[in-house]
Amino acid sequence: MHKRKIIGIPTIELDTVDSTNDYAISLVSNSNPNAGTVIYAHHQSAGRGQIGSKWQSKAGENLLMSVILKPDFILPTQQFALNMVASLAIKDVLVALEIPAQIKWPNDIYVHDKKICGILIQCILAGKSIKYAVVGIGLNVNQVEFGDLAKATSIIIESKSQHLAQIKSLVCAALQKRYTELETEGWPHIESLYLQDMYRMHSTYDYRIKGQTVQGIIRGIDASGALQIEHDGQVHSYAMKEVAYI
Ligand code: BTN
Repeated sequence: MHKRKIIGIPTIELDTVDSTNDYAISLVSNSNPNAGTVIYAHHQSAGRGQIGSKWQSKAGENLLMSVILKPDFILPTQQFALNMVASLAIKDVLVALEIPAQIKWPNDIYVHDKKICGILIQCILAGKSIKYAVVGIGLNVNQVEFGDLAKATSIIIESKSQHLAQIKSLVCAALQKRYTELETEGWPHIESLYLQDMYRMHSTYDYRIKGQTVQGIIRGIDASGALQIEHDGQVHSYAMKEVAYI
């Protein structure tokens, strides 16, 4: 049980790196870092996003970090529990700053229909268990201009400027709390919290599903974390690559 504080011990602070997730993955491939190790960078030259996309962030303005965990109490089929933990932790930090954050499945954080944070989780498996998980967080903090990313926002836009080191500490503490909660109380508890703050839950919207526009209603997630959308009189489950929000 990780009742004691582990997240952020140690913290490796880097000025510039290709990607904090890549750095974390090379650490776990070449050494045996402590669970809870945080890699924190001021700038990434090749930040990674979901499904092979890039994560762009102005140097010194946003939180770019990866947390190395050893979630030996969940199975590879339950990896989505980490998405829920990370999403809830970021939502907690934003709500404490009075920013009305919501969780857009699988793990983006939205404020007023704009993205404020992206999360990229990569698991390293060994046989039937998760050897390491790398939880990468890109949280927009003090960036005001997003160029052609019209649907991006930041803490400064929604509230006021913040010290990055302070936001990093708040994120580590929130992650610690939600991760311990997963370990002690389990998936159903974390899932019910996750669904409480889910963007577009129980309302009708359009989705792009396998090349078609479909009007549907998000009803929740299944036991693997796939999104459940009700349409055409039935509830269907979709994996990340199968559905896009319109
Ligand atoms: C997304 O596409 O929404 C996920 C973005 C994740 C970005 C963060 S920034 C810190 C960490 N390092 C990376 O290369 N990516 C993640």
